[in-house]
Amino acid sequence: MPLKRKIQELKKRREEVIKGGGDKAIEKQMAMGKMTARERIRMLLDDNSFQEYDLFVEHEARDFDMDKKVLHGDGVVIGTGTIYGESVCVFAQDFTVAGGSLGAMHARKITKIMDHALKMRVPLIGINDSGGARIQEGVNSLAGYGEIFFRNTISSGVIPQISVILGPCAGGAVYSPALTDFVFVVENISKMFITGPEVIKTVLGEEISMEDLGGARVHSEITGNAHFFAESEKECFEQIKKLMTFIPRSNDSKAKALEPKNPKPAYKIDRIVPGDPKQPYDVRDVIKSIVDNSDFFEIQENWAGNVVIGFGRMQGETCGFVCNQPLVLAGVLDVDSSDKTARFIRYCDAFNIPIITLVDLPGYLPGIDQEHAGVIRHGAKILYAYSEATVPKLTVILRKAYGGGYIAMGSRHLRADFVFAWPGAEIAVMGPEGAANIIFRKEIMEAANPEKMRKQKVEEYKERFANPYVAAAKGYVDSVIEPSETRKILLHAIDVAKTKSVGGPKKKHGVPPF
Ligand code: HXC
Repeated sequence: MPLKRKIQELKKRREEVIKGGGDKAIEKQMAMGKMTARERIRMLLDDNSFQEYDLFVEHEARDFDMDKKVLHGDGVVIGTGTIYGESVCVFAQDFTVAGGSLGAMHARKITKIMDHALKMRVPLIGINDSGGARIQEGVNSLAGYGEIFFRNTISSGVIPQISVILGPCAGGAVYSPALTDFVFVVENISKMFITGPEVIKTVLGEEISMEDLGGARVHSEITGNAHFFAESEKECFEQIKKLMTFIPRSNDSKAKALEPKNPKPAYKIDRIVPGDPKQPYDVRDVIKSIVDNSDFFEIQENWAGNVVIGFGRMQGETCGFVCNQPLVLAGVLDVDSSDKTARFIRYCDAFNIPIITLVDLPGYLPGIDQEHAGVIRHGAKILYAYSEATVPKLTVILRKAYGGGYIAMGSRHLRADFVFAWPGAEIAVMGPEGAANIIFRKEIMEAANPEKMRKQKVEEYKERFANPYVAAAKGYVDSVIEPSETRKILLHAIDVAKTKSVGGPKKKHGVPPF
């Protein structure tokens, strides 16, 4: 056969495969407001940068008449491309082909691109849109998932792994996204659950919609499984691209530095934090008054809002921010915010991103609900994560730093490299009211006017202990600084810490309070 005809045949074969599950299935996909796998990849990557592999892979299943079925590309598209000129590996499940269900060859394609990503030290982006394990392929499908989970784990902390949920992600399939660094969901499109509505109805007799069980809002507001929520697939891809500008391509490298920019003058750092410790404010305004161009990229914005985490740049370089949020529950630490904080610290540490902690909290949230939900175990994760992290750790105490909260939020004792405090900082074992009631109880009770005495004792306590100078006198705080000096001092500290080098005792790994 002459070469020309062979090329024609190749083109024909390609055309056939990229039809996916055919016109009807594509129409159904579009009617659900979803794009096809290849459209998604094209929208995510730089123009014309996508190179597809394994286009002609076919399944090898024989049971349940599978030998009579052609599943183009076995329901998944894999390849490489670029985002802002930087290489990435990508896979996208094609729901139009057998519901994107995962059989042996489908899994083999995904694991092939995962292996490439790890070997080449480039980020992996996985677009999930699948009915889960391909039922007809039985244990081979389960084996496929196992192979994926193993690679997710081995790659963790080496290359960034991003999961995008653009359809169902059902059954054990959910554990791959759960093992990755960032999960993106889209309203009305993402559905993530272990057991679907049918099973729940059969086993528990309860009726529940997929949306209420594991829709995008459920995972970005209630479970915390999702890190980013978007209203459309397009917005979701914009979010992923923005994230990619903040993170390095692997743990061997640093995130690309951008041209430094000053914060916008609209954010006046001196005027954000009220003098009255009971008055709330939005800590995001403080972050925006510090970071380049006031550009703060928040993560898990809709979940555990008492802590704010995310990326910003300082003189062009990415930093991770961990901040109490006085607007929500006075910024206390609880089960969820502890998990959110600890995981982000570990992410930053794995990928060479300095951590800036802004502190203003009354402590851990008291109460039986939290105790029984395991606030001891979850809260310990923060202590572990900060202590273990070896990236530069800079802490600024804006206002309250009481009790366990003081220690947990990047204190000197967990090896912060630099600790600064604003003049209004209150660093003490507990708030003045609680402290005075306990240590002066006898005097208050025996006073002619107990209420007057109580107030007097609270003031006395505030005067003596609720300030930054006791901690500064002991060197736990390195400098008491004016708010307006914060950015300059942090930039200086980041610069000094650039060559930081620390080590711990030799061990295989620790045993964190997972
Ligand atoms: C084989 C599947 C499939 C599956 C869907 N399909 N899921 N084929 N195995 N798991 C096929 C359907 O038969 C159908 O084929 C096509 O995909 C489209 O599916 P529909 O049901 O028509 O689509 P829709 O109405 O949109 O519903 C989507 C769905 C539903 C909600 C995902 O298909 C569903 O509930 N699927 C099963 C989900 C599930 O329970 N998965 C868990 C499997 S166990 P045709 O030929 O008709 O177009 C698991 C364990 C893994 O995953 C454990 C790892 C540790």
